[in-house]
Amino acid sequence: MSFLDGHRLMGSRWDFVVLILVLLISTVAEFSYGGRTSSFVRTANLSLDMPVDSDVFRVPPGYNAPQQVHITQGDHVGKGVLVSWVTPEEPGSNTVLYWAENTTLKKQADGIVLTYKYFNYTSGYIHHCTINDLEFDTKYYYEVGIGNTIRQFWFITPPEVGPDVPYTFGLIGDLGQTYDSNRTLTHYELNPAKGKTMLFVGDLSYANDYPFHDNTRWDTWGRFTERNAAYQPWIWTAGNHELDLAPELGEAIPFKPYKNRYHVPYRASYSTSPFWYSIRRASTYIIVMSSYSAFGKYTSQYKWLENELPKVNRTETPWLIVLMHSPLYNSYANHYMEGETMRVMYESWFVEYKVDVVFAGHVHAYERSERVSNIAYNIVNGMCTPISDQSAPVYITIGDGGNLEGLVTDMTEPQPSYSAYREASFGHGILDIKNRTHAYFSWHRNQDGYAVEADSVWLHNRYWNTLEESTLAALR
Ligand SMILES: [Fe+2]
Repeated sequence: MSFLDGHRLMGSRWDFVVLILVLLISTVAEFSYGGRTSSFVRTANLSLDMPVDSDVFRVPPGYNAPQQVHITQGDHVGKGVLVSWVTPEEPGSNTVLYWAENTTLKKQADGIVLTYKYFNYTSGYIHHCTINDLEFDTKYYYEVGIGNTIRQFWFITPPEVGPDVPYTFGLIGDLGQTYDSNRTLTHYELNPAKGKTMLFVGDLSYANDYPFHDNTRWDTWGRFTERNAAYQPWIWTAGNHELDLAPELGEAIPFKPYKNRYHVPYRASYSTSPFWYSIRRASTYIIVMSSYSAFGKYTSQYKWLENELPKVNRTETPWLIVLMHSPLYNSYANHYMEGETMRVMYESWFVEYKVDVVFAGHVHAYERSERVSNIAYNIVNGMCTPISDQSAPVYITIGDGGNLEGLVTDMTEPQPSYSAYREASFGHGILDIKNRTHAYFSWHRNQDGYAVEADSVWLHNRYWNTLEESTLAALR
């Protein structure tokens, strides 16, 4: 062998060693945790409430004009829309007139009206009206009110439920009604990603933070959010601020204002309560859970979820999303381990049924987890550390809507390995579903333009990804 040949041989050996090293490093990089705590610097000021005479709370002109108009999905597949509004002085009309774009024939749906009392407050007349049997993927105009106070809005129904239907969801939690709340909503509205439906993860008005749970703050919140919630459905999750429990005021029924104001189509998923239910929309199956209702074994919520999860057909709706208020994985000091009881009850089901993402609020900050599970523990084995688990959901905390309680900045240290990214800033999320295998989640902090994604992740569908992997494995 010549010197040159030997050198070439050595060279190819070194190339081989370098190649192995690169492969090893990239493999380790893919499977090891790279948890990051953002160093973003923010002002320390508490969020200030917008005064009640702010533009955003303006009462629409005219006697008894409908206000606080908001819509949510009205059935299980998206052919129904539930329209709600309040008339302040008298019941007025319970009717919604609606028509598809480019048609002239106005159809009519009739709803119900109710009122409630809370301590020294009496609500306006709260209307709920479900429009059924709409066409998919169609723009509809609708009107509420009578006489010279008719108000007109519009919405677009989702495409028919199917596995490869792209769809874009917005995510906001813990919104409140401060200047920061307004920034969050405005930032979401102007996001070029154009969220079509809001997944709202609980804590709406924060009325209970005001003296005597001032329910007029439920009204101001309804007027504030109307500009978006009248035009796209908001999928509601109940948070602790919806409890409005005040036995000292004679108010001992949980969720009273929320339950009266925000109706949801819970019967369509055979739920017995508006606080837990499911819907299908485009290529997603969305399960809403209640952190503040009983969820132990044999409770109604437990039995419902036990029956519900096997019904999810991932060939029809590949994306399985769970919404709840209190996060199961949270490494901030605030509300630390509050979701632990629910995690112990349900995490193994989320892994078994390959939930793609669990979104929660409650913690006034942002955090995204790795795919981990912590379900191996039993009373004698001591195995209680989260481990990497590709069947597990990603847990995203997005309780950073901007309410008057301010941001949570205290974090547990060091950052646990399951926590991929955390940052205490106000913002919103966008879940952009591309097809059955890929979705893109991005988080946008209020201070930035849209070109800046403070955090983002490609989500590979848990059901279809696993199928692809096993098919590939079989081919090898
Ligand atoms: Fe909360």
